[in-house]
Amino acid sequence: MNKYICAVLLFIFGACAAQAVTAHKPGHAAIASAHKLATAAGFEVLGEGGNAFDAAVAVAAALSVVEPQSSGIGGGGFFLLHRASDNKDVMLDARETAPAAVKESQYLKADGTPNRDTSLYGPLAAGIPGEPAGMVWLAEHYGKLPLAKSLAPAIRIAQQGFQPDARFLEAIADHREQLGRYPGSRALLLPNGEVPKAGWTFRNPDLAALLERLAAKGNDGFYRGKTAALMLKAVQAQGGDWTAADLVGYRAKERDPITIHYHDWRIVTAAPPSSGGVALAEIFNVLSGYNLTEADGVHRLHYIIEAMRRAFRDHNEYLGDPDFVKMPLATLMSPQYAAGLRAGILADKATPSSMLPSAVAQDPGMHTTHFSIIDADGNMVAATQTVNTHFGSCLVPPGTGMFLNNEMDDFALVPGAPNAYGLLGNKANAPAPGKRMLSSMSPSFVFGPDRVGVVGSPGGSTIITQVFEGILAFMDGKSAAQIVAQPRYHEQYLPDVVYAEPDAFDTATAKALEAMGYTIKQRHAWGFMNVVTWDLRDNKLDAASDPRGISGSGEVK
Ligand code: DON
Repeated sequence: MNKYICAVLLFIFGACAAQAVTAHKPGHAAIASAHKLATAAGFEVLGEGGNAFDAAVAVAAALSVVEPQSSGIGGGGFFLLHRASDNKDVMLDARETAPAAVKESQYLKADGTPNRDTSLYGPLAAGIPGEPAGMVWLAEHYGKLPLAKSLAPAIRIAQQGFQPDARFLEAIADHREQLGRYPGSRALLLPNGEVPKAGWTFRNPDLAALLERLAAKGNDGFYRGKTAALMLKAVQAQGGDWTAADLVGYRAKERDPITIHYHDWRIVTAAPPSSGGVALAEIFNVLSGYNLTEADGVHRLHYIIEAMRRAFRDHNEYLGDPDFVKMPLATLMSPQYAAGLRAGILADKATPSSMLPSAVAQDPGMHTTHFSIIDADGNMVAATQTVNTHFGSCLVPPGTGMFLNNEMDDFALVPGAPNAYGLLGNKANAPAPGKRMLSSMSPSFVFGPDRVGVVGSPGGSTIITQVFEGILAFMDGKSAAQIVAQPRYHEQYLPDVVYAEPDAFDTATAKALEAMGYTIKQRHAWGFMNVVTWDLRDNKLDAASDPRGISGSGEVK
């Protein structure tokens, strides 16, 4: 199609690239997730006549069994969906909410200083879970199978057990003290009071029973009845103040995703309460004024890092739950705003963050999970889900086998005090009853004239730069395996540092960047990206899981 006509169509329908997709059906499917048992659960459900949305329920539920340190039924997430039959793109927001009794003073010590312990561990750290309502919504509105079928593989794994990998065992060792505080958590993960050793078989019959109640009764099987009673009892016993109304009142919500046009590509990604899509839009809009293909390697990085710096400056300043906060989204994502940002980027010099108007910023972290799916009909799911830091609040309500999240820490709980990722407070993200906390999770689709990608990763604030670098690599023609393996770098305004994985820059490039004024700091590897791609020219799918993870698996069948 002529580029001009395409541009006009894009303007009118916003869907030119997606129209190319409609004409195709891959005829086979691909799934990439953080655990081979979860990937297998997805394929099992596809084999029973399910579609990508049923498979997403199966993968999400299986991850809650085999990777509970990262995500689970007691947490939440964002599911980005593409339905092939009508080209609908939608974001299913299953993010946790604050309970009605939330008070900022709960997160302060008697002397008025921040109480990091209540922000991160125990009942006050936990938001009302959104993951179960997300699964129920997916099954009811998009799936082909009853919830019971899609949950069956996870229920079976929880009953029969599996051998946790080294990541899981290390996470237990790292959180031994906090897990030891709560009877339900001790019983589940510290057999005989000890950190289990390699070869241990982890069975979780309570979680299997909880999933069975969800399968049988949908939302009522979690937010009412036995599961609700077990949660309320444990939360209240440990000093929390959830009520039955908090649980019954939880709703998963459909939101319009953010769409970014960048050259021939259309990127569909997470809207608030994720900050990711807005930040990605700013980065791509700034970069659209440069020719990245012709720029030398050092200047390409210079432009990208400066775009990241500016996007992160805005990231935490304005954004929060769209149901509570008015946000200047149209301005932040406009080409004129990007042109203004670009005008401040010097040709050969880093901009010190201190020269930009001050704002708050985050620091990277490493838990959470992302999976990507394309089914035989071309339906697609990008899902990032989390309990926040490892094992969330570390609180398992006895009888549930499920960790409650510690997502409350993603709010600016104490104005001026950093959260787990270095996030400082501002009003847009202050806690309030029923409000969703701001997130960096950025599940994304990339639609091009002849290729489509499904991208996402965990990693706190680095999620945004990982997803950006993944999308750029996809646009550059890299394979799924190359995209997930490529070395990463990250700039987030404050601290004024470019974090780099060991192989991100060669010596000459690092020296040239330092000469421009950048401070580069090497960090241990981060992220656990899971990518699926679809080449419309030969109708081939490709899938890959990050080599940084241990049990990840990307498969095409
Ligand atoms: O929603 C968020 O942005 C965080 N709760 C995600 C946490 C995360 O990715 C941890 N690191 N891997």
